[in-house]
Amino acid sequence: MSDPTRLAIRRPDDWHVHLRDGAMLEAVAPFTARQFARAIVMPNLVPPVTNIAAAEAYRGRILAALPDGCDFTPLMTCYLTDQADAVEIARGYETGAFAACKLYPAHATTNSAYGVTDISNLWPALEAMQRLGMPLLVHGEVTDPEVDIFDREAVFIDRILAGLARDFPALKIVFEHITTAEAVAFVESSGPNIGATVTPHHLVINRNAIFDGGLRPHAYCLPVAKRERHRRAVRRAATSGSTKFFLGTDSAPHAASAKESACGCAGIFNAPFALETYAAAFEEEGALDRFEAFASENGPRLYGLPLNEGQVVLERAPVEVPETEGDVRVFLGGGSLPWRLVPPSSFRT
Ligand code: DOR
Ligand code: ZN
Repeated sequence: MSDPTRLAIRRPDDWHVHLRDGAMLEAVAPFTARQFARAIVMPNLVPPVTNIAAAEAYRGRILAALPDGCDFTPLMTCYLTDQADAVEIARGYETGAFAACKLYPAHATTNSAYGVTDISNLWPALEAMQRLGMPLLVHGEVTDPEVDIFDREAVFIDRILAGLARDFPALKIVFEHITTAEAVAFVESSGPNIGATVTPHHLVINRNAIFDGGLRPHAYCLPVAKRERHRRAVRRAATSGSTKFFLGTDSAPHAASAKESACGCAGIFNAPFALETYAAAFEEEGALDRFEAFASENGPRLYGLPLNEGQVVLERAPVEVPETEGDVRVFLGGGSLPWRLVPPSSFRT
């Protein structure tokens, strides 16, 4: 009989994380490496990671920021611009420099000024990616100021994503950090080449959290959290057992001072207790038996990458989440979570 106080799963991966650069990279990368075997690293640096040389250099800085003996593989991504170079992208994928390309609509989010202004500029790159099986990772929000911020994801499906999926029927597409019932429905009704990542925070908060007794900048991210009925739809999808939904934290650290500002940055830092947060949500949905597939199987299957060897263990023991790590506020800081990750030996002190 299985032990109800212990949850052992195949080593998981984070299919969407912001590790930043410089001092912030050094501060945050160990949290991701402690929890995950691999991570898809977002390329929205300043300047963005748009070519093989930049990705290789960034990979080196990530590895240098990790403790010795740490078994963690950063998977690098190419930031798509209007000048996206199909030849460079194909070469980057074939040589292993890039695992995927990231589409930011211009001005949709943090450091997206160099993003794509017109999807037709990507045609040659998308053709190459479809041919190679290279995933396109999509920040799915329109930037049209006429569109209400809470509708930007749903409108993106109608204006951009549905057409993209029709025009490139075999392209692997990951609809990142989904927040709406419309996104769930789109992914569920598409072919097996289309999946979605789900963040811990979008499983936990709805838009009330941003206005709870005052303006709460630490609950602000993009896509912004939606109504409760959308949170419920995303939770149902993530915990349904569907192979299309998988773990991507979108952990996006900003110094507290940059969020507590007249124009605060979007992003929630959840890396220190991401697995614990997901496990709590799966337990609340009575779906702990589906957690391993979500965390460790569905992502690599869509990417066409091998599953990890080895296991991590969560034990049923409350863990206190600190308010801050350095100058960054931690998601759910000050609270406690019911499952605790048993640290891998390379991180035990
Ligand atoms: O909240 C977010 N923060 N959403 C994004 O899309 C980008 C991210 C960041 O880089 O800060
Ligand atoms: Zn992100």
